[in-house]
Amino acid sequence: MKLLIAKDYDELSTRAATLVIETVKQRPVAVLGLATGATPLGMYANLVQSYARLEISFTQVRTFNLDDYVGLPRLSPDSFYQYMHRAFFSQTDVRPENIYLLDGTAHNLTDECVNYERYIEEVGGIDLQIVGIGRDGHLGFCEPGTSFESKTFVAKLTESTRQANAGGLQSLDEVPKRAITMGLSTIMSARKILLLANGQAKTDILRQALYGPVTEAVPASILQRHPDCTVILDALAAGE
Ligand code: PGA
Repeated sequence: MKLLIAKDYDELSTRAATLVIETVKQRPVAVLGLATGATPLGMYANLVQSYARLEISFTQVRTFNLDDYVGLPRLSPDSFYQYMHRAFFSQTDVRPENIYLLDGTAHNLTDECVNYERYIEEVGGIDLQIVGIGRDGHLGFCEPGTSFESKTFVAKLTESTRQANAGGLQSLDEVPKRAITMGLSTIMSARKILLLANGQAKTDILRQALYGPVTEAVPASILQRHPDCTVILDALAAGE
């Protein structure tokens, strides 16, 4: 595992974007695994700027997002579908037909999960998967206790995750109770993983995930077993 400590969130975001850009320059048809949440927003802003400066094109890139809520309409401003279009897709040349997002409103969620795994396989797997970490150690919506063997599945969200994600929604009641998410084995099958975390609230869980026992009680601890995982933290998340 390669650990990089950035002095602040801006530097974390620039470094993360640089890594994505290097991946795409090396392999213009790269398959990117993308994440939502507060953490990668700065990275997306940097990618959009690089695109606007004509430094990079995403026209051949394919993207697979980690997760989305079950039951929240795609057009809801709080869906991850909307987040991704706002933060990245609509501001770059990623082609709509190359964007894969789990559909939490699909009629048959089991089929949705199986098909997603198949699409990932058909494009030859994910080259670079970006992940954040939840305060409870989750990756995607793989909450503590999720099997390390899990493939894309429908997950029940913990109360702490629902509270952390309340965001723009009016009340906790509006935060969906389930989500559709890549499994831990889906995430681990990416050729490279980039974990991003900023802020003091993440220090404790990072210590457990990066230096504690590898256990399903801390889903992100599985990253210790990945052969090519880079972690970028800001100084606050890195703590002492
Ligand atoms: P955050 O979420 O980036 O909003 O902290 C990370 C996560 O829950 O995976």
